[in-house]
Amino acid sequence: MLILAFETSCDDTACALVRDGRQVLASHTVGQAAIHAQYGGVIPELAARAHQEAIETTLQACIQQANLTLADVDAFAATVGPGLIGSLLVGVMAAKTLAWHAGKPFIGVHHLRGHVASAYLHTPDAPPNTLAPPFVCLLASGGHTQLLHVTSHTHWQVLGQTLDDAAGEAYDKVARLLGLPFPGGPALDALAQTYPPDAPLFALPVAKTKQPLDFSFSGLKTATLRLIEQQLPPNLAMAKRSPDQHLVRAKLAASFQAAVVNALVSRLKRVATTVPEAHWVVVGGVSANSAIRLALQKLATHHNITLTCAPLAYCSDNAAMIAASAYFSPLSKGLNAEVFSRD
Ligand code: KG4
Ligand code: ZN
Repeated sequence: MLILAFETSCDDTACALVRDGRQVLASHTVGQAAIHAQYGGVIPELAARAHQEAIETTLQACIQQANLTLADVDAFAATVGPGLIGSLLVGVMAAKTLAWHAGKPFIGVHHLRGHVASAYLHTPDAPPNTLAPPFVCLLASGGHTQLLHVTSHTHWQVLGQTLDDAAGEAYDKVARLLGLPFPGGPALDALAQTYPPDAPLFALPVAKTKQPLDFSFSGLKTATLRLIEQQLPPNLAMAKRSPDQHLVRAKLAASFQAAVVNALVSRLKRVATTVPEAHWVVVGGVSANSAIRLALQKLATHHNITLTCAPLAYCSDNAAMIAASAYFSPLSKGLNAEVFSRD
């Protein structure tokens, strides 16, 4: 089954063509970072307009990349939520229009289900990916941080989740305080890597939560803010030019990153002893982080658990994961042909 999907829930206009929920034949994304960078965050109205301008380009790019036609597509999918309403509408209406025109079904996908399904994907040249539930999934993105016990393609139980900020949100806020460009996660990751691995770090707190598998990142964010105020001069532009200050900024980035890694590792250590599952999966934008991948791989190996990280290309928001989720959803079996249904 060939599914064409759109993902426009936030600031990436993405389209993809995926065969049987796993093989990515084409995946194309037009990012909006340049539009929102000057504001330090996503402006919903600008995002919706930019989606409208880019949606046809991404569609054409995918069709050309896969060397297929729209007539080859068996079903159309789009993220229906959660997300910015104006942005979601663009992808949903594009998919529903194509579905109506072709007389093919439309499948609406929940964004988080999409992130989980990113772990099933592989590119055409990569070996087949046979991952299947059950597994424990850490989903860490800009909007969510959750631990899920995924028992089937359609069911999971939430083991724990953040009580305040998502991990990616904390990354973006700290990165901004360090004068790094938006989105901050990848830039902070790169800055932290310039700090010598065995050099001393600043001590930052890892929040304890009432439910041991929940997360909390807002205390860490505030503690990092105080530390930055103490360690860096108020003029960040000057600090960025000085080699001494570069080392302090790198140390701050590495210390924050180490605290996030500790928070994730401590929860998964507990999962290893309380949830009898031999397979862990890590997905979402933050799962692209080098230090997090390394630490979780070490922990998994120690407990004899297999770790699957979503392919790097499909960690951050993309449409291939939406097509994968659509394929594995019960709707793709029954096929909902009612394209105007709100469901
Ligand atoms: O999954 P995603 O693309 O969008 C949401 O659904 O939120 O995640 C975006 C988040 C941003 O906060 C971004 O800074 C973070 O993922 N991110 C990273 C890295 N790459 C992206 N955070 C830490 N390290 C990275 N390498
Ligand atoms: Zn996402």
